[in-house]
Amino acid sequence: MNWRGRKVFITGGSGFIGSHLTERLVTSGAKVTALLEYTPYNDLGCLRHVPRNVVSQLELVPGDLRDPETIKKLLRGKDVVFHLGALVGIPYSYVNPREVFEVNAVGTLNLLLAARDGGASKVVTTSTSEVYGTALYTPIDEDHPLQAQSPYSASKIAADKVAEAFHKTYGVPVATLRPFNTYGPRQSDRAIIPTIIIQALKKKKITLGSLTPRRDMNYVLDTVDGFIKTAESPRAVGEVINIGTGKDSSVGEIASAILKVMGKKMPVTSTKDRKRPKGSEVMQLLCDNSKARELIGWEPKTSLEAGLKHTADWIKSHSEGYDADKYQI
Ligand SMILES: NC(=O)c1ccc[n+]([C@@H]2O[C@H](COP(=O)([O-])OP(=O)(O)OC[C@H]3O[C@@H](n4cnc5c(N)ncnc54)[C@H](O)[C@@H]3O)[C@@H](O)[C@H]2O)c1
Repeated sequence: MNWRGRKVFITGGSGFIGSHLTERLVTSGAKVTALLEYTPYNDLGCLRHVPRNVVSQLELVPGDLRDPETIKKLLRGKDVVFHLGALVGIPYSYVNPREVFEVNAVGTLNLLLAARDGGASKVVTTSTSEVYGTALYTPIDEDHPLQAQSPYSASKIAADKVAEAFHKTYGVPVATLRPFNTYGPRQSDRAIIPTIIIQALKKKKITLGSLTPRRDMNYVLDTVDGFIKTAESPRAVGEVINIGTGKDSSVGEIASAILKVMGKKMPVTSTKDRKRPKGSEVMQLLCDNSKARELIGWEPKTSLEAGLKHTADWIKSHSEGYDADKYQI
């Protein structure tokens, strides 16, 4: 697909994954309008790390996913829509489940109502591997049962089902991309890989929650490639597509791999003070990416070692934005 001059609307463009996707779209020549969660401080979120000449080509519109009128107005006349905006913190969803449901599920409903009436040629919504809960079998394909082990997961399952219903009922040309854990430069230290890196930079030992859960860690530029290929493929319409590497590692193994690429040695310990209730702990997520390979021609390109190295180098040069001592939900 030639992106030059194409009118694109993106939600969550100021977030971790969204900032990389926005950068890719602008540098490919797309005319991008991005919804920017409103604050009175001109907070660009992760877009502050994107080169100025890229950000200056964006139309940035402040607003909230929970406001259907704003979303409807912004979607009018757009050709391709990427919906990444969401409240993504699982611990935050324990404390404020209603807010998380309203942003993630009702926000997606607002977006799809606007897409139904606005005539976009393609809408890509964003799911998450968290909707599967602890793997009942591995690798996890798209037919794996959905298990809501957190309010966050429940909100994303609801959003995915709204997308399915809007495709089946109204023929909205929507595809749902389901990324497994994504990491890379610009990610907040609420996520596991930045947490480990920042402790390795600033402390003498690494203290984490449980070391045993297993995750399939996908580098952010590979995830971005999944979004682009999903938007480009007519075969993706009406489908849910997993994006992940097909390899998993325990949290303890990820910590060792990070220390290795950073050339450091220090103990890695597990704290008794767990933030996740026991039933909410997702023990294993491992992606079956066969459908992505076959349907949209996607494959992971970045090895865990190379991705961790890029991420550690980036965090090292931006460490003032990270706090190794304070736990944030
Ligand atoms: N990071 C991961 O490992 C991962 C894995 C699977 C799926 N996802 C999904 O990918 C998407 C992006 O995740 P991320 O890691 O970049 O998260 P992020 O928190 O960095 O970005 C979320 C974005 O949503 C915006 N947002 C939040 N509430 C909003 C509201 N009420 N109105 C408008 N905008 C709002 C934020 O401003 C931000 O730009 C999410 O849908 C998330 O569920 C992320």
